[in-house]
Amino acid sequence: MRAWKVKLRRLEGDFASPGAEGGIKTTLQGGPIAPYAPAPADPVSNYAANAGLGLTANRGLRELHTYHTPLDLVRERSPEHPVALVRRDAVAAAARWFQTKFKGDVLYAVKANPSPWVIETLVQNGVTRFDVASIPEIALVAEHAPGSQMAFMHPVKSRRAISQAYFDYGVRTFALDTHEELAKIIDATGGARDLNLIVRMAVDAEGANFSLSGKFGVNSFDAPGLLLAARQATAELMGVSFHVGSQCMRPTAYQAAMAQVGRSLVRAGVFADVVDVGGGFPSIYPGMIPPDMDDYFAAIERGFNEMPVSETTELWCEPGRALVAESTSLLTRVELRKGEALYLNDGSYGSLFDAAHVKWPFPVKLYRGEGKNAQEVEGDLKPFRFYGPTCDSLDHMPGPFYLPADIQEGDFIEIGMLGAYGVAMTTRFNGFGETEMVEVSDAPMASMFGLARRSIPAPRPASNVVRLSRPKGRKRRRK
Ligand SMILES: Cc1ncc(COP(=O)(O)O)c(C=O)c1O
Repeated sequence: MRAWKVKLRRLEGDFASPGAEGGIKTTLQGGPIAPYAPAPADPVSNYAANAGLGLTANRGLRELHTYHTPLDLVRERSPEHPVALVRRDAVAAAARWFQTKFKGDVLYAVKANPSPWVIETLVQNGVTRFDVASIPEIALVAEHAPGSQMAFMHPVKSRRAISQAYFDYGVRTFALDTHEELAKIIDATGGARDLNLIVRMAVDAEGANFSLSGKFGVNSFDAPGLLLAARQATAELMGVSFHVGSQCMRPTAYQAAMAQVGRSLVRAGVFADVVDVGGGFPSIYPGMIPPDMDDYFAAIERGFNEMPVSETTELWCEPGRALVAESTSLLTRVELRKGEALYLNDGSYGSLFDAAHVKWPFPVKLYRGEGKNAQEVEGDLKPFRFYGPTCDSLDHMPGPFYLPADIQEGDFIEIGMLGAYGVAMTTRFNGFGETEMVEVSDAPMASMFGLARRSIPAPRPASNVVRLSRPKGRKRRRK
């Protein structure tokens, strides 16, 4: 364990509140971190279907069927239910990339994809720390990554969840963004002094597709008081965290957020033992080609170097999407075609939440036929929209999804890049949502980590292709 150091440090002047000096402790109180306790049988984690931990909860990779490609699966049988096609290599490559290139500690944000095979693959590839948000997530990680370290990064937790995390699972790291939550954590852990307290700050979400600062995070005005209170409340680590927003397309957003956090630390007159830059690292979707991941890491390194930190300050990140997005695609079947509307056996209550609610036009491929005759179909493309199987009109994915114009009932559509916030969102609404899972070993449809091309072309229908005429007076050059 990290050697104990004086935790209440002043940056400049006498900013600390009266009595702060008395708060300096040079011995660790609260005793050693409790050994990992096996997960008690928790009915929640055994649930057959609930958001995030539903159908994936009890399926380790060992039980999965393996096919070389999705087409091999279609050739072998015609699956009745949607199939999550999982690629262990994609998670392994992303994990190794982060482990090698990020100059700090990597905590996987379990919410992005809580499948046991993901957790096991991450551990096998060096990611052994987890950002968890609930007791079922904690139980899941304890079961599939025993001995790993967990950080309870949800800024609002029930007292019971805090106690269970601390006493039953040995969790010592807790996030907070209010004085009330700080008091709750201290109370629910029996006044523990061995806590790592991470203050979540609200930062600008410029360049991100989903802002996560509206709901959580203390503002810059209130931050200094909370930072100081957290500093005084623990004899262990006091840190800061933020989230620049998910699918962040601008690396400099991290640097700007770190500067903002740094100013609050200066105003509070404390150093942080941990700077946690959160998640937000992007993946590739049609029309969204992010800068290189290296650019994000370089911006974070610059931001860290410019922050008022000590040489022992730890740098953490909590990627969700970037570690898993490429790993999973979904095989769905067309149950009916009505003009340009395709009715599928999966939808917004299944793995297509983002396709419906954020209207992302995920990349698609088409497979047709049975047995050995099944094949991938290309041909002239037309824009289609999708409807899911439930009775709700909101179960609609507008796309447009470009697919061969002659697509018909019984065809299979593979929808790519659904590893993050895809299977994690599945519900059993209306009796649908049963999703099979098989392992495949082909490349993902795009990759930030060198497994496939770094872009997804946004296709156009054949009839809309505009041919540019040759400029007058210029002859076509022969190749
Ligand atoms: C606290 C926290 N950390 C990390 C993440 C993961 O974010 P992303 O998937 O954008 O990397 C989230 C996502 O909601 C989060 O709330």
